[in-house]
Amino acid sequence: MTSGIDFNEETARMLERTYQTPDVLAQRARFHQLLGLRPGQRILDVGVGPGLLARELGETVGARGKLSGIDQSEAMLRMTRERCADLDHAAFELADACDLPYPDGSFDAVVSTQVYEYVSDMKQALAEAARVLEPGGRIQILDTDWNSVVWSTQHPDRMRKIMDAWDDHLHDAHLPTTLGPLLESAGFRVYLREVIPLVNPVFQKNCYSYGISAAIRGFVTGRGGVSEDEARAWREEFKTLDDKGAYFFSLNRYIFAGIKL
Ligand SMILES: C[S@@+](CC[C@H](N)C(=O)[O-])C[C@H]1O[C@@H](n2cnc3c(N)ncnc32)[C@H](O)[C@@H]1O
Repeated sequence: MTSGIDFNEETARMLERTYQTPDVLAQRARFHQLLGLRPGQRILDVGVGPGLLARELGETVGARGKLSGIDQSEAMLRMTRERCADLDHAAFELADACDLPYPDGSFDAVVSTQVYEYVSDMKQALAEAARVLEPGGRIQILDTDWNSVVWSTQHPDRMRKIMDAWDDHLHDAHLPTTLGPLLESAGFRVYLREVIPLVNPVFQKNCYSYGISAAIRGFVTGRGGVSEDEARAWREEFKTLDDKGAYFFSLNRYIFAGIKL
């Protein structure tokens, strides 16, 4: 059972900043490229968050196409609606990934990036994605496996404790390990599995690990026996390592794509 993250205004602003770092921009560009979306297509983004991907997808499908998006957070939806305000072919709804407010066969493609790892009933979420797709429609998903993190430290026990507490921010911190079979059971033929590594050799503001480590520090404080001092010292070590040229961070994102049979 997960205690979860509160996707409020503050989290929305933090995600917006972190998702505009060059490493996440590159991740989004690769995801978009793999999708091979065409003008005129109808696309659904499940869990739009700050709307950075949604905006790009909306520009690709253009005014002859349709961009729909859902999120369970009002704060995230506000940000996305603002970002896409000039796209007349875009509309966003407050909804749950497990109960999509669209008729059967409404879309050519469904995407979801870093959302399904928060969802407790993945069978239902994928059944819903399959329902709203046309036969032959495609689903493309990106999620993280937090077992793939490699982070420099001279305090491995503290690192383990912090990362164990952080796993609780998701329902499934290792969803990529089961996503293939879940997609196949939901009626998709999986045609793509790809890994996107994020690599930060420095600890600086415009890197993913700089922003996410601040979020991790905030989340783990008071959880899993992690004290405020411990969480602070954990993040401060990265600055010390960076000063010595000894900082390293890497994390894998996994992309799965399937076609609805
Ligand atoms: C880490 S953010 C990712 C946002 C966006 N997809 C991106 O990659 O930039 C996770 C988002 O999923 C949303 N979310 C989590 N569980 C959800 C659910 N069951 N239904 C709808 N949205 C959900 C959150 O509100 C949040 O906006």
